[in-house]
This record gives sequence, C-alpha cells and structure tokens, in this order.
Amino acid sequence: MAAEKFTVQSFRAAKAAQRPISMLTAYDYTTACLLDEAGVDSVLIGDSLGMVMLGYENTLRVTMDEMIHHTRAVARGSRNALLIGDMPFLSYHISVEEAVRNAGRFIQEGGAEAVKLEGGAAVVDKVRAIVKAQIPVLGHLGLTPQSLNVFGGFKVQGKDVEAARRLLDDALLLQDAGAFGIVLECVPDALAGLLRRRLEIPTIGIGAGADCDGQVLVVQDMLGLFRRMRPKFVKAYAELGDAAVSAVQEYIREMAEGRFPAEEHTFHMDPKLLEQL
Ligand code: KIV
Repeated sequence: MAAEKFTVQSFRAAKAAQRPISMLTAYDYTTACLLDEAGVDSVLIGDSLGMVMLGYENTLRVTMDEMIHHTRAVARGSRNALLIGDMPFLSYHISVEEAVRNAGRFIQEGGAEAVKLEGGAAVVDKVRAIVKAQIPVLGHLGLTPQSLNVFGGFKVQGKDVEAARRLLDDALLLQDAGAFGIVLECVPDALAGLLRRRLEIPTIGIGAGADCDGQVLVVQDMLGLFRRMRPKFVKAYAELGDAAVSAVQEYIREMAEGRFPAEEHTFHMDPKLLEQL
C-alpha cells in the first residue's frame, strides 16, 4: 500500500521485491480522494472514461481536451499514487512531434506524472521520443481498445504462437525504448507469466491472470457502478450501483411521503422576524 509517494522508481523496486503493484482508474476528484485514502499505488486516468463517464460506445471518440479536463480533476484529489494519463486515439499516431507535445500536455496542463499509450512496434519511435522528453511511458499490449476496429471486437489476444511471439517482441521493443512498465490486457495467463519473467520492467495485468507484477481495473467496474457490461476479468468488490439506485428510490419515496427533509435537515428563523415581513 502506498503510504508515501509512489513513483516510476517504485515500479521497478516493487518488481525487484516481488511486491504486487495496485493500479485503478479514476476520472474525477472525489474518486481520486477515495483511492488515495485507500492507498492505491497508481491511478490511471484511462481513456475508458469515454465509456464509463461520457457514455460513448467505445474509447475512439475521446479527445485530448477531455483527457486533460479529467486528469486535472484527479490530480487535485491525489497525493500519493503515481498519476498516469492515457493518451487517446490519434494523439500519438500522426507524428513523433505531436506525440511528444500531447504527452507534455498531460504533464504540464493535467498534472500527470507519466503517460500510457497503446501498441508495440508501430509506436516505439513515439515512446522513445516521449521518454527522451523526460516523460515516463507505460506501454499497453494485448487487447488494445483503440485498435477495436482492427481486432473486430473485444477478443483475447496472443492465443497462437505467431501472435504470442509478436506480443513478446513488442514488449521487448517497448522495454528497449524506455517504457517503465507494460499493461497486458486480455492475454492468456501463461503468456503473461512468460512476459513477466522475460521483462525487467513490471507487467500490469487486466484480464491477463495472476502471474503479473501488478493488476489494474476500471474503478467503475470493481465498484459495481458501470452496469452496461461486465467483462469476465472483472471482480466487483462492491455493488455500489445497486446501493445508489436503492438510495435514490428511498429519497424519492421519503420526499413523496413528507419524511424528507426532517427537522435535523431544516433551518429556522425567529418567528418575530417573520411577522415583520
Ligand atoms: O483506459 C483504460 O482504463 C485502460 C485500462 C483498462 C488499462 O487502458
């Protein structure tokens, strides 16, 4: 648990000490405060916010301005966790210059301490340039949601030898380019374990089994708040969605029955003053 500031150096130290790294997403100030209080090691302002906060069908419509807006809110509520901004679709695909500029916006405008981007060989020049600009980069391989249209859906990746070998090569390229860790999304557990052992940098799994150096979940999923879908790899540690619906129903009922607001929620004034009105 991060009782003190967790940094990119803490990532490496955690792997060396075989101490699992906890990561959750957050998109707003209130959640960031709660995660900080709970002691999570790192907070990802994921582009999953497009789905769970903005109601888009997938992450492809998320813009840099939306990411910066939410990153700022999280940064205001976070003290100890390492803050990682997720580079949205097209923010790092067009040129190395744009990639560095957009990564820099996360740090300068958003208050993040690192960025994450999806892909292997195709983005390695961007990773190298961002790292050279003194911005730590977290890689992301496997089911990378920004490639949804290429994958043809949310499917487990790296299941045959060729795909698994490509994933391993991509991971080594990212490490060589200076990435401080790699998120592995929806890959078979044995492949994730192999990657963990071959890499010097930590692997953070989501749908990649237990043999990773850390785990990440979307906070709305693990709190049971996002009810549109629940992938197999999600464990809901609470059902706050159910609790929220019940609370709102009770509020509506109590209000209709005249039981809310009660005496303890009510302000009074001197009746003599009322007479003067
Ligand atoms: O956008 C996101 O939340 C992510 C995590 C699921 C890794 O990329």
